[in-house]
Amino acid sequence: MERIPLLIDTDPGVDDALALLMAFADERHDLVGLTIAAGNVGLAHTVANALKLCEVAGRDDVPVFPGCAEPLLHAADDASYVHGRDGFGDTGYAPAARAAEAEHAALAILRLSHAHAGRLLLVALGPLTNLALALKLDPTLPQRVARCVVMGGAVTGHGNVTPSAEFNAWFDPEAADIVFRAFPRIELADWEAVVRHGLDQAQAARWMREAGTPRAAFYEAISRHTREWSQDRRGDRWHCADALAMALALAPEGAAPLAERPLSIELAHGLCRGATVVDWDRRVPGSPDNAAILMDYDQARFEALVRSALGAA
Ligand code: RIB
Ligand code: CA
Repeated sequence: MERIPLLIDTDPGVDDALALLMAFADERHDLVGLTIAAGNVGLAHTVANALKLCEVAGRDDVPVFPGCAEPLLHAADDASYVHGRDGFGDTGYAPAARAAEAEHAALAILRLSHAHAGRLLLVALGPLTNLALALKLDPTLPQRVARCVVMGGAVTGHGNVTPSAEFNAWFDPEAADIVFRAFPRIELADWEAVVRHGLDQAQAARWMREAGTPRAAFYEAISRHTREWSQDRRGDRWHCADALAMALALAPEGAAPLAERPLSIELAHGLCRGATVVDWDRRVPGSPDNAAILMDYDQARFEALVRSALGAA
């Protein structure tokens, strides 16, 4: 069966890294590129991290395209407190031998959308700056994308960076607004779904230790800071956001029926900036159901995908 072309926009980041390892391990998809965003940490680090992860996983065949270094309009704080200053746990890894591509992420997104028109699975795991810029360059992009899966938002307002907003939407709300207005249907793994599908910390650590693969050993090292930070603040369940979004993208059959609803982004500066406002009761007439919201995912299938990503039995 012909593999599905997969393009991932990402701000690696420790949970991004696990999602990328899941994509590397999946035989049903052909990973045609990684476009890199700033978010968790600055662009220089997110690009370096993507290149290093590809090298460790033996995937130097996957092109890495640097994107925007800043949000579209307003600067925002990174999440280095979660992921480490370099975004990969500050392990001091030796830089990858390979360099990133010269083509900008936004242009690569457009080019690859034409190359794989009608079949492309586009997964966004970070702030949506690159995707928004691509849409501004070519508003016809959604017509060539078969599925668009986004990790982001908090669909009943339980945020992770402010009381009401999740980090990816909050870091560049204008970009998120452009993207959610442009795509007719975005499959959304939001923060609240991530919290419902936490991984047991001790079990995840065992998978990494027992896998016996270079990628698992690397991942155990780069994720240690984040896992310890999460244990201290959130307890025994590790909320690996991008991994859940990647499970939805790679194996949608593991998801319960998605909730189709209108979703808007709050842009006003203040307590609710970056909130993903869902019209659950359809109170605004004529609003399209632009979001297909993940409500539940088969936890055993999710964990099997994570184990496979690490090379754990
Ligand atoms: O809120 C979680 C999201 O923000 C994840 O994608 C994480 O990597 C950060 O980008
Ligand atoms: Ca991310």
